[in-house]
Formats: sequence, C-alpha cells, structure tokens
Amino acid sequence: MGQSVLTGTGVFRREGGVLQCEGVSLEAIAAVAGTPCYVYSAGTIRDRYAQLAGALTDVPHRIHYTLKANANAAILRLLRELGAGVDVVSGGELHRALRAGFRGQDIIFGGVGKTAQELREGLEADVLFFNVESEAELILLDRIAAELGRTARVSLRVNPEITVEAAHEYIKTGQKGAKFGIPYDEVLPAARVARDLPNTELVGLDMHLGSQLFSLEPYLAGTERLVLLCLALRREGVDTLRYLDIGGGLAVRYEDESLPDLTQFSELLVPGVAQTGLQLVMEPGRFMVGNSGMLVTRVLYRKRSGGKEHLVCDAGMTELLRPSHYNAYHRIEAVRARSEVMVADVVGPVCESGDFLALDRQLEAVHPGDLLAVFDAGAYGYVMSSNYNARPRAAEVLVDGDRWAVVTARERYEDLVRHELPDPEWHGKER
Ligand code: LLP
Repeated sequence: MGQSVLTGTGVFRREGGVLQCEGVSLEAIAAVAGTPCYVYSAGTIRDRYAQLAGALTDVPHRIHYTLKANANAAILRLLRELGAGVDVVSGGELHRALRAGFRGQDIIFGGVGKTAQELREGLEADVLFFNVESEAELILLDRIAAELGRTARVSLRVNPEITVEAAHEYIKTGQKGAKFGIPYDEVLPAARVARDLPNTELVGLDMHLGSQLFSLEPYLAGTERLVLLCLALRREGVDTLRYLDIGGGLAVRYEDESLPDLTQFSELLVPGVAQTGLQLVMEPGRFMVGNSGMLVTRVLYRKRSGGKEHLVCDAGMTELLRPSHYNAYHRIEAVRARSEVMVADVVGPVCESGDFLALDRQLEAVHPGDLLAVFDAGAYGYVMSSNYNARPRAAEVLVDGDRWAVVTARERYEDLVRHELPDPEWHGKER
C-alpha cells in the first residue's frame, strides 16, 4: 500500500522548542483556556476533506461526516462550509446538526436503536434518508410517516457479514452475528417489505464494516455484495434506488501504521459503483478529524511506586477514554521540549486503576507544571468524555492559522448539578 499524506501532524510543529498548532503556541492557549483542553486544527480538517473529495472525483458521491466522532459546533460549521453532509445516530445528534445549519437534505439518520420519537424527529426534519436496521423499524417508520403525512426515504443497512481486521474487537461491526444491520440473506425480503409499504420509498443500500480499517479488501467485498443486492432488486422491478452507502471506517495514523492509499481506494471501488449508476455515499468520522486534534494536559505530580514512574496529569479517562477502553495508543509529547527522556505510566486523577493515557511510555522527562500534548485525539475524544468523579468537561479550542478561539467553554461545577431536583415531585401512594 502506498503511503498517503495522512499523518496530519505537519501542522503541529515546534517553534523555539514549544509545540504549536498551526500558527499558535499550545502554551499560549493553555495559559488562557486552562487545562485539560482539546485543541483542533481547522487546516487539517480542510485538508482531509479535500483529500477524500479529490479521491472520489471520478464517481458521483456524497460525503456525510459522522457526527459521533466529534460533534463540536465549530467543526460542524467548518465541514458544512466545505460542502459535507452529516450522518447522525440520535435525536441529540440530529439537533446538533440542524443547529449547525445543516438542512434535512444534508442529513442521513442511522443507528441501530432509533426510538419512535427519534424517527418522528427525523421525518419532521425531512432527512435525506434513514439507514434502517430491521424490518420492525421499517414498519414503525412507515406508520409514523403515515401519521405525519410524509414519505420516509429509506436505505437498508445490510450486514455484509465480512470479518475485518480492526484495531480492536469493539470497533468491528460488519461480521456475522453483529447487532448491526440486516443479516445478508434477509435483505431481499426486507427490501420487498419496504417496496410495498405505502409511505416508504426504498432509496438505498448501506453498510458499515467497522472503524480504523487498514485494508481495502473488505470495502471491495462489501461493495460487491451491495451491488449484487442492487441488481437483484432491479430485476424485481425496484427502480427507486439512488444511493450506495459504504459507511465510514477509513484508518488514520496514530503510531506508525501503514495506511490504505486513497487513490487505490477509489480505483477499486468506482467500477462496481459506476455499474449501478448509484451515488456513492461515505460516512467518514475518524478520517476527517482524528489527526486534527490533541488533548493538552498539565502534569500535576511525578511519583515512584513499585519501581515505576507515574506522571499524574489533570486529564485521564474522563477526558480521553480510548487508551483505557480500547487499549489505544496516542502519541504523547512535552509541549516544551525537554532533552532527557523517561519511561512512565501517564495517568489521570480518576479513582480507577484503569485511568491512564499511556503505560510504560518512553517520553521526555517532564516535571510537575509541564504541559503534555496527547496527539490524534480529534475523533472519539471529547465526545466520549464523562463527568465521572464529578469532573467538569474540558474546554475545546479551534485554531485557524494564527487565530484561535475557545469554541466550547469548560464546564463549571453548576453544570454538574443543573438537572438535579432538590425538591422532586413524588409519584405513587402517599405513605
Ligand atoms: N457510520 C457508522 C454507521 C458508524 O457506526 C461509524 C462509527 C461511522 C460511520 C464512522 O466510522 P469512522 O469513519 O469514524 O471509523 N469509539 C471508537 C470508534 C467507534 C466507531 C463507531 N462507529 C474509537 O474510539 O475507536
């Protein structure tokens, strides 16, 4: 596989030994925004969008950025201005997308467990289509569409039943027996149901194989399976199909992984898709934002225990869950260069032994008060953060050239208790 320019870290350079994001020093940002904070590079996101759109020029396509990777409003607006649509998987994400200015026609509504209320919200927003995951969901959606006097545009999420190599078990989705999608041999019967429902229009076929996929073969195999289904449906007289959605999953570099080449990706896929005349849809998440962001944290303490060095930081699993949840690797560097090196567990302040950002990691010998940059945290970082240990969520910063802004304020203690009812209304019999 060729090496494409996907490291995305060119924008994170050093000036006078201090790490910069584009034209701005991370020390300067931390001094104003505080730590922990997420810092994103707008330029990297623009580059990624251009790379993918460039690779797909030979086929009619739509790029629907997957909101779940990073739903920050400023990033959504940036992607909207570039021409992206979005893929949402909940009423909350739909709300965020609409608020960021996406129109219904820019939105795909997916997800394995949409509630009746969420389906209604999607219909009211007139989304481009729903990725439907079961026959029961088809029937429910059709009934709600009837109530609203609308037509539901539907694409069937097919489980292509392909086993992929992904970085972790938890991020594979297209294998046999997965909870996602319609089992491959049940797709045609489900499509006939969709065709015959009065308030439903069957407009597409969809799959999502998994995330952080290093190989292109599964995309090809999955696309071939979707194409076969499309041809079979056409033979049965279904002439409403318009979209072939191959999901997300493109890998990014965290360490030294070799990545699929985008040109090769499109060369492999385009002929099959072109044969159907359908529009190719992609739902990239990590690819768009993964390498664009870093988590900046301050070292609070340095201590030795059991012959081991621990760097206790002000960020941990509550800010970035990926290391403890998926054993994921994130490169860590001192924001201000240090000449000596050390080996340490980089841990957070949370009361859990699984609260770490890195284990046994060689890095620069830093001291309490120093800043660390945890790289490639733009995807599945802030969105997976929690308030465990009553920790307010971090601030988010967007850098664009020489300018930067706090785009999400750090949560305050009041935010932690805002929904608690001191004087609740009791239901049931009085005692
Ligand atoms: N479409 C569907 C239906 C998905 O479920 C996903 C991700 C995507 C698109 C976008 O996939 P991407 O391009 O980002 O690989 N939290 C995990 C990743 C979970 C991915 C869930 N689905 C992580 O931190 O690695």
